[in-house]
Amino acid sequence: MKELVTLKSASEIATMRRAGAVVAEMLARCSAAVRPGITTGELDAIGAAVIREHGATSSFLGYYGYPATICTSVNDEIVHGIPGRRKLHEGDIVGIDVGAIVDGWHADAAVTVPVGKVKPEAARLIRVTEEALRRGIAAARPGNRLGDIGTAVQAFAEQNGYSVVRNYVGHGIGRAMHEPPQVPNYGTGGQGRPISVGLCIAIEPMLNAGGAETRVESDGWTVRTADGSLSAHFEHTLAVTDAGPVVLTAAAAAAAERPAPARKPARPAARRAAAARR
Ligand code: MF3
Ligand code: CO
Repeated sequence: MKELVTLKSASEIATMRRAGAVVAEMLARCSAAVRPGITTGELDAIGAAVIREHGATSSFLGYYGYPATICTSVNDEIVHGIPGRRKLHEGDIVGIDVGAIVDGWHADAAVTVPVGKVKPEAARLIRVTEEALRRGIAAARPGNRLGDIGTAVQAFAEQNGYSVVRNYVGHGIGRAMHEPPQVPNYGTGGQGRPISVGLCIAIEPMLNAGGAETRVESDGWTVRTADGSLSAHFEHTLAVTDAGPVVLTAAAAAAAERPAPARKPARPAARRAAAARR
């Protein structure tokens, strides 16, 4: 890992946004396929197909020997679950974490989705984790410090009775998937490195229904809650701009990145205007 935090130029961020568009599409297509009976390996194949269609590269496949394109983490699995023959069942929740490289630049994002109908408590954990991410992103403004992100995530998680995983954190991202700085999901407001324009980070809260302690499975990758409680994970890659944080992996960012359609006059308004002239 490089020691120094690099700030990205507008054109570098534009390339990361293209990677973010691929990531957003991977998440959309994998999430849409989640249903009772599908295997996590089938979700991995969908992610790999999206990567291929865009001529992109997976950030994960081969990373320290990681054997798949995406990570799928079910129920008490927190992160880094390896897709395979495991079937998803009604009532499960599954974290889907994906990363893509376009022209040498990375984007990384994750969602947690219900499999069919889930218990209210599982649905609430998912909602709170997504909102914790949203609050963390909102704190990623120039003039704030990294601790402002951490405290925003942690306060909301703990207010809702959940614990924040501390053994895994968010990260800088750019030419490498994991760059400095580390971006913890806990902290103290006003502390830590200043958030400057050009900083690109992945914020990725992992919230547990029980305790924060983690265990790594014998496969060397899968991280689960030590107490077997449910865990949820959401992640976005964002760039800090003068105007505030810009999410590079949002579905909307993906749409904005498609070539703009040829401009047509706004038909109904034009017709109304023509009618008025008559
Ligand atoms: N979003 C995860 C992270 O930042 C993805 C890494 S999975 C790995 O840690 F397989 F590539 F390690
Ligand atoms: Co990440």
